[in-house]
Amino acid sequence: MHDTLLTLQNITKRFQSGETQLTVLEDLSLTVPRGASVAIIGKSGSGKTTLLNIAGGLDTPQEGAVIYKDRVLSSMKDRQLSEYRNSNIGFVFQSHILLEDFTALENVMMPSLIKGMRPREIRYTAQKLLERVDLASRASHHPGKLSGGERQRVALCRALINDPDIIIADEPTGSLDEQSSSGIESLLFDLVNEQNKTLLLVTHDIALAERCTHMYQLIHHRCERYS
Ligand SMILES: Nc1ncnc2c1ncn2[C@@H]1O[C@H](COP(=O)(O)OP(=O)(O)OP(=O)(O)O)[C@@H](O)[C@H]1O
Ligand SMILES: [Mg+2]
Repeated sequence: MHDTLLTLQNITKRFQSGETQLTVLEDLSLTVPRGASVAIIGKSGSGKTTLLNIAGGLDTPQEGAVIYKDRVLSSMKDRQLSEYRNSNIGFVFQSHILLEDFTALENVMMPSLIKGMRPREIRYTAQKLLERVDLASRASHHPGKLSGGERQRVALCRALINDPDIIIADEPTGSLDEQSSSGIESLLFDLVNEQNKTLLLVTHDIALAERCTHMYQLIHHRCERYS
């Protein structure tokens, strides 16, 4: 039996720009069981990134609650929330945001350094992660010298360094060729299957979505079961 790791409850999210108000999510509910892989598909602009940002506590809805392991994210103070996020949630963003002044290895280590761990405690783990995505030889490169797909893989390693229970990934294979994306895919599913991680991902790749245990479509501002 799965227990629930993450619940989105009756979420409404609107963006205000000048006079106009845009409703992106409306009364959206979603349950992510622990150990599941949940895929969200949907048209460009349907609100997928907005949904992930809210699920991971990076953005707040006007209405509704996000509950992660029995804790309501919206009731946490900013600092508490960012510490919680850093330790519990691994994010892979749609555009791979890496720190340009640091090497690939340092980028991977960063969430652990922020947590207060010492470089020598985590360097080995970071190197192992880079090896896992075939980037061992790029560890000392700065992001500016990496290709888009390599940056995406570094971003994935960074999301994993603190050993989060959930990985939230926005188009993790979006900009990758077939070989790199199948590498990332197999890493993600190994994490779910062997390490009991939970995966919440947005993808336009139907084959990838179909590998997940649950598949939803974001349509009419809500998540509908897709089959
Ligand atoms: N900060 C913001 N302010 C105003 N509008 C926003 C903001 N962020 C997103 N939007 C709007 O909300 C809608 C949903 O955006 P979102 O990025 O969630 O879409 P998406 O489904 O991830 O699209 P894509 O597949 O292209 O990545 C879009 O119409 C977008 O223009
Ligand atoms: Mg998006």
